[in-house]
Amino acid sequence: MELRSVEELMDLLHACRGAWDAPNLPHSRLRSSGGTPMGGPVDLHDHALQTAALLRRGHPSDKELQVAGLVHDIGHLLRPGDDAGHADHAADAVRPLLGERVSRLVRLHVAAERYLATTSPGRGLSPQSALTLTVQGGAMTPREAAAFEHDPLSEDAVTLRQADDAGKVVGLDAGIMEDWRTVLELVAAQHSRLGA
Ligand SMILES: [Fe+2]
Ligand SMILES: [Fe+2]
Repeated sequence: MELRSVEELMDLLHACRGAWDAPNLPHSRLRSSGGTPMGGPVDLHDHALQTAALLRRGHPSDKELQVAGLVHDIGHLLRPGDDAGHADHAADAVRPLLGERVSRLVRLHVAAERYLATTSPGRGLSPQSALTLTVQGGAMTPREAAAFEHDPLSEDAVTLRQADDAGKVVGLDAGIMEDWRTVLELVAAQHSRLGA
């Protein structure tokens, strides 16, 4: 599916409240036999806000990088349960609205995770992230890592991924979703082939 307007994207981002990522399992938060919730430590709404806020802090002028961080996990809502394909679903959905660079950064956030697993193997993933990494193909081979480094967007994709990994802090206030509407409209106005 392709998103047709910022309005539609905002609706999807708001719908991330109470939605969780969980590998190959339906969208709502699952519970283990002991009643402990599974999925990420924060819901996809807070995760999106935290990831985008971290990128805004580190790269205040790169609005595309920030909105890529904001939307990178909407694939979990577009196709619940398809964890392995979530980056591609999100990238395809935002491309007509937010442009090629945002789309590619979103698509690369899984590859960047696999790249970092190869180049920084000791970075201490949570059990959830380790499981997700396995579902998504595990660490890259040296040849895959070399090909990834060759991509002109690889450095930005790694930056996004580091914010992604850090943007999972329970109770951290990273602002409200509505604050991003004008930023999304700005990026959309620059890139939309729909003439937004
Ligand atoms: Fe993701
Ligand atoms: Fe994420």
